[in-house]
Amino acid sequence: MLLSRPWTTTWLPLPTDIMTPTHLGPAEHLFSAEEVETAIQQMAVAINKDFEHLTPRRPVVLLCVLTGAVVVVGQLLPHLHFPLVLDCVQVSRYGAETSGGSLQWRTRPKETLAGAVVLLVDDILDEGITLQALQEYCVAEGAAAIHTAVMVRKKRPRTVEVQVDYVGLEVPDHFVFGYGLDARGLGRNAPGIFVLLEDD
Ligand code: IMP
Ligand code: MG
Repeated sequence: MLLSRPWTTTWLPLPTDIMTPTHLGPAEHLFSAEEVETAIQQMAVAINKDFEHLTPRRPVVLLCVLTGAVVVVGQLLPHLHFPLVLDCVQVSRYGAETSGGSLQWRTRPKETLAGAVVLLVDDILDEGITLQALQEYCVAEGAAAIHTAVMVRKKRPRTVEVQVDYVGLEVPDHFVFGYGLDARGLGRNAPGIFVLLEDD
């Protein structure tokens, strides 16, 4: 049976390497799916190299920062070769007046972090406030060690000092979407990483 869809997703490849997801507006194709997958695999190689020397008393707790990190975590997982348990966190930032570290929790980890080696994986490092606050949370919960990985890092100045151990790709300081990253809730399924051309 054919299911009817309320809207169509049309990826129109243009000769200038610009694709137009019709529901988001014009976008420039920054990285292809193959390029993102290669970057994620290289991150996995680097993570494996560091983690094979660890002898944690319990499996590493890999914390997927929902929602955007689902794709990078899904692609990393089969390439990681050490014992781990998968858990997730979901936070959102308060409004524009938010001071650093102030997060609204939607999902807290179910695993006990006390004494655990934690690998935090997020989709993007922008200002760095989210990742910094999550690191502080892991410290407060008594994690033995905290490692951080992001699929993409924005090239921009930062006011917060945040430790990032593994970075897949760097993107310009514009709003990007695809491979888990959303623009107004859409575009997480875009096959690659795109920058919105009409970013207002
Ligand atoms: P922060 O500014 O580093 O705290 O980033 C906060 C969160 O905003 C990230 O985890 C992303 O979910 C989201 N975010 C920041 N920049 C972008 C972007 O360019 N595209 C999509 N999501 C973004
Ligand atoms: Mg996020």
